[in-house]
Amino acid sequence: MTGIRYVTPLREGGSVPGVVEADDLGTYVVKFHGAAQGRKALVAEVIAGELGRRLDLRVPELVRFDFDPVIGLGEPDQEIQDLLKASGGLNLGMDFLPGSLGFDPLAFGVEPAEASRVVWFDALIGNVDRSWRNPNLLVWHRNLWLIDHGASLIWHHNWKGAAASAAKPYDASDHALSRFSPDPAAAAAELAPRVTAGLLAEVTALVPDEWLAGEPGFDSPDAVRRAYGELLAARAADIHERITLAPRRRDRRPPPEWLRTWVDGKNAEGADAGERA
Ligand SMILES: Nc1ncnc2c1ncn2[C@@H]1O[C@H](COP(=O)(O)OP(=O)(O)OP(=O)(O)O)[C@@H](O)[C@H]1O
Ligand SMILES: [Mg+2]
Repeated sequence: MTGIRYVTPLREGGSVPGVVEADDLGTYVVKFHGAAQGRKALVAEVIAGELGRRLDLRVPELVRFDFDPVIGLGEPDQEIQDLLKASGGLNLGMDFLPGSLGFDPLAFGVEPAEASRVVWFDALIGNVDRSWRNPNLLVWHRNLWLIDHGASLIWHHNWKGAAASAAKPYDASDHALSRFSPDPAAAAAELAPRVTAGLLAEVTALVPDEWLAGEPGFDSPDAVRRAYGELLAARAADIHERITLAPRRRDRRPPPEWLRTWVDGKNAEGADAGERA
């Protein structure tokens, strides 16, 4: 895919992705390799996003996106101009979902089975960016769509300590879907067997060589791909045992005695009033 028109920056995003029209006349959200988050954020988007899609989670289609900074010259903001100039060549495009809304847990209900799958998937990829403050979920045509996996696979920022870091628990207590009764062990039983070595090889093969080349400690992009695959395979096997969830409402401490008496008294009054009426 090649960009033909830079439409607008998406300023809600820390990396300021752009909405860009491409030569197939489709519109894409483009994540730029020149952003401060760097190319590892793009690697994480590809591996996590393509893995999620193969596990039947809804992730907008991802494409390799060729961007020539010339098409952004009309953009007046100097910072964005700098970002675009630093991002010539291969970037990551994601199908733009027109009319989608940011997910609001108070306005949109999610089935426990779906919440379970998403929480388990986020634990698998070590996603620290799906809290209720910043859900990175979109609602489109009444379905939930997963976006923004740039802050997942966080262990790839330090491969030497990766195994130890990946063995740590996953804290899902402020996950955007934690209020929908997720059961990650049930999701693991369904999804973990599907995370095979073959599937991981297929997914990691989609990352362009130029985003993996020169990684310290590895002698080729394929060696880096194997490291991602091995780590995710190990995690798929048992991460469900290490997920911390917020306590469920019914597990929380009961109200104090004085409050219960007061509420019961109120109910009794209400019932009396009802009988009198
Ligand atoms: N495929 C899409 N279709 C429609 N809107 C999108 C899409 N992807 C992203 N957006 C919008 O752009 C915003 C920024 O995107 P995204 O969260 O991926 O960027 P980011 O720079 O990685 O953000 P963050 O600050 O959360 O790290 C989203 O919150 C959403 O409103
Ligand atoms: Mg985001």
